[in-house]
Amino acid sequence: MNQKILDLFRRRYACHSFLHDRAIAQADLDTVLEAGRLSPSSFGLEHWKFLVVTQAEEKARLQAVCFNQPQVGDASVVVVILAKIADMDPDTDYIKALMAREYPGEALAQALANYRGFHAATDVKAWSISQCHIAAANMMTAAAAVGLDSCAIGGFLADEVKKILAIDGDRYEIALILPLGYCAEPAPEKQRLPLSELVEYR
Ligand SMILES: Cc1cc2nc3c(=O)[nH]c(=O)nc-3n(C[C@H](O)[C@H](O)[C@H](O)COP(=O)(O)O)c2cc1C
Repeated sequence: MNQKILDLFRRRYACHSFLHDRAIAQADLDTVLEAGRLSPSSFGLEHWKFLVVTQAEEKARLQAVCFNQPQVGDASVVVVILAKIADMDPDTDYIKALMAREYPGEALAQALANYRGFHAATDVKAWSISQCHIAAANMMTAAAAVGLDSCAIGGFLADEVKKILAIDGDRYEIALILPLGYCAEPAPEKQRLPLSELVEYR
């Protein structure tokens, strides 16, 4: 097994308490955001938008609608990952442009027809959010690689988060909240089921 990559996955853990007065370097934050940007997505549609919340007052308001989880208010920055909803409509310029990039030339017409059928049959919010979770996973690993701690926060009141951040609910859904910073507590021991219980070879 490749220990280098596995060490990163072992190093990352859900931090529940951040050193609230410690800033993070812009270059490190950029690395995390770039890992999100480079993530794979269904049809290559890059379903995410990253809102970087830095103001203490806004972080405190977010904490209140995340069941008062302190890691949201204490983190150096809080990245709110928005899932694109309206852009995913088959008739948008966004879809036309990104599908043309993914399926150049003659393949485009059939790909757009397939996409229209897929979109009609799909829970678009859940689909878009699931793509954002892939980006979030990469961002957490990237954070670990540059020595930052993180905590995925799925425990939030989405409508309240949208109100605080003035998000248009037709355009975006809240996919995940990702506080970043330096953890105030030591890493707990990793608790995972063994591969023998998770993998079945056929
Ligand atoms: C989508 C998602 C949502 C999560 N939401 C929360 C949350 O709201 N609050 C929290 O403290 N941890 C949250 N977690 C962190 C998990 O509890 C944590 O990853 C899990 O217990 C495994 O521990 P580890 O990440 O330290 O290895 C979330 C994780 C994921 C992937």
